Amino acid sequence: MKTNIINELTADALKKLKQEILKENLVIFPTETVYGIGANALNKDAVSKIFDIKERARNNPLIVHLKDKKEIEKYALITNSIEQKLIDAFMPGPITIILKKKEIIPDVVTAGLDSVGLRVPSNQIAHAFLDYVDVPIAAPSANISSRPSGTKVSDIKAEFDGLINYIIDGGEADIGLESTVVKVIDGIPTILRPGFVTKEDIEYLVGVCNVSPHVLKEVKSTTKVESPGMLYRHYAPRTKCLLIYSSSESKLKNAILENKTSKTIILGSSKLKDLECFKFINYGDTLEEISHNLFSYLRLADKYQGDLIIIEGVKKEGLGLAIMNRLIRTSNFNYIEL
Ligand code: TXA
Ligand code: MG
Repeated sequence: MKTNIINELTADALKKLKQEILKENLVIFPTETVYGIGANALNKDAVSKIFDIKERARNNPLIVHLKDKKEIEKYALITNSIEQKLIDAFMPGPITIILKKKEIIPDVVTAGLDSVGLRVPSNQIAHAFLDYVDVPIAAPSANISSRPSGTKVSDIKAEFDGLINYIIDGGEADIGLESTVVKVIDGIPTILRPGFVTKEDIEYLVGVCNVSPHVLKEVKSTTKVESPGMLYRHYAPRTKCLLIYSSSESKLKNAILENKTSKTIILGSSKLKDLECFKFINYGDTLEEISHNLFSYLRLADKYQGDLIIIEGVKKEGLGLAIMNRLIRTSNFNYIEL
């Protein structure tokens, strides 16, 4: 199978993509968060292929992508005013809202749960694709399970070349981290996975927002979690990682110097650029830059073939919470905070 990269959504390209989806095949497409690997959400055989190609656990449910928020009621029930407020305020955009599912969504999508995660991307290419194929698209992030999510086509092609017929190239994903996953639990919006829409944004809208305690903690496989994705190893390069955070620059630098080996790659902001090391990668100086670069630079760090990646942590506030949620898992909970 040859993988075709589509650079422009011409009428001809859209037709081919729709045929591909209706043939129960998969298409990789860009969104503002990360790339998705999509199938017709209403067809269980098509959805099943996603789990196979990603080597994804069958009990980890998929997000369903819609062209417009007006479509939500075809697939789920909005049961309270907070859900409605979240939809009105943040969709289309980098948020997934967990709602009570309707029968039409096959169980394979939701891993047997009675809820479904719905998302309406704001990315124009994603929108044009969803609009033209005119079926809901179930899509996880475009990466083999446990690896960093795909944020640009060169990384994705390296993983899926020959396994998939079409990748739509929309350039580097803007945000670079997956959507905020929110569920209203006992009347309170609860973040199951932090993202670009922050706890602070939701608090501003409805006055209150909880964050699942599992966001920054290791989850034992026997624990009952609201979001099964929390159970798995995630966002991981092949090289061992150590995450270090301190609000004090000198403590941070000292901890890096104490822990580094002769083949340590440092992934951090420009204040670390003069530390002596095997390789330094500047991941940016703002939370937005770090979020945008993170997954792609973790893959880059792997390519240098060091024996340790030391990653600078950030403050767990605003978008920083999403970055730390990913980095804590990237480093497999190998984390120092000073
Ligand atoms: O930004 C994103 O969300 C990207 C793009 C492609 O839209 N998608 C993505 O999908 O990150 P995935 O499959 O990598 O992550 C989906 C997360 C998982 O942690 C899963 O457990 C959770 O959402 N999830 C999905 N449906 C759920 C449900 N019904 N209840 C609780 N958690 C759910
Ligand atoms: Mg994923």
